[in-house]
Amino acid sequence: MIPAISFQQVSKTFSTPRGALQALDAVSLDIAPGEFFGLLGPNGAGKTTLISILAGLSRATTGRVRVMGHDVVDDYAAARRSLGIVPQELVFDPFFSVRETLRIQSGYFGVKGNDAWIDELLSGLGLADKAGANMRQLSGGMKRRVLVAQALVHRPPVIVLDEPTAGVDVELRQTLWQFIARLNKEGHTVLLTTHYLEEAEALCGRIAMLKQGRIVALDRTSNLLAGTSSTMLRFKTDDPLPAAIAAHARVTGRIAQVKARDAADVEQTLATLRTAGVRIEDLEIGRADLEDVFLDIMQGGRA
Ligand SMILES: Nc1ncnc2c1ncn2[C@@H]1O[C@H](COP(=O)(O)OP(=O)(O)OP(=O)(O)O)[C@@H](O)[C@H]1O
Ligand SMILES: [Mg+2]
Repeated sequence: MIPAISFQQVSKTFSTPRGALQALDAVSLDIAPGEFFGLLGPNGAGKTTLISILAGLSRATTGRVRVMGHDVVDDYAAARRSLGIVPQELVFDPFFSVRETLRIQSGYFGVKGNDAWIDELLSGLGLADKAGANMRQLSGGMKRRVLVAQALVHRPPVIVLDEPTAGVDVELRQTLWQFIARLNKEGHTVLLTTHYLEEAEALCGRIAMLKQGRIVALDRTSNLLAGTSSTMLRFKTDDPLPAAIAAHARVTGRIAQVKARDAADVEQTLATLRTAGVRIEDLEIGRADLEDVFLDIMQGGRA
């Protein structure tokens, strides 16, 4: 079977005033047709660089990339036609209306008489009432919806979304994911980067994690989650945590999350908190989620 996307030993070095910067280091990854695949990693990990190489906007220093069997350098036009890319940055011509923007994009791919599909995209992405509006009249979140529509206008078999939900409200996120999930069900391959790990957990069948240009985890989402069998204690407090707990707690404002191996460990943690006089509210006990797995891997816990 030919992978929908294939990265083989892809490296990328940027020359900067401060010397060479290796953004990607021998990344190899095959994504099968029909997969919903997540590419995760902290800021600067190399996600957008990898996508730019896939899109033919940037060249790998070494290695090969293919889309539906087409090499992105030697067979650029066919590779590009197979791809719909939603870029991380918002770039538009402000003088065209939404519908004009989508018609122009259709023309760019040589697709004629595309209005029925354009209407479906507009309604699927909640843009139907904005079809006639000029791009500069749209809010940031609406512009992002147009970017998504633009990427899909030529019905590409492979859809690549680079943080499509950054700055997007809850309702649109749901609309967007319903729409993308439908396309995935119809056979489109999806490659997604996001910093919303609960989205990745819910949507992606497989996930790769990048750290400083290297793949440090690559597995089915369910396996990544099963790998951390640990229990998570979540609670709110205004009191400082005792050192023994603070050392391995994750604290976000008033919310603390503490890992526990088993029930006895949970009891032990609660006893330590009680002895230290820490008053806790809204206690929850649950399984570790993808965010916990991600932090573990990025802090070198498992990689
Ligand atoms: N054109 C460029 N010239 C020099 N360095 C670059 C260039 N583009 C990216 N980099 C560097 O390459 C590394 C990877 O950047 P990249 O944009 O791929 O990260 P990312 O994973 O997409 O991060 P984010 O989550 O913030 O979007 C960073 O160190 C970045 O500074
Ligand atoms: Mg990026």
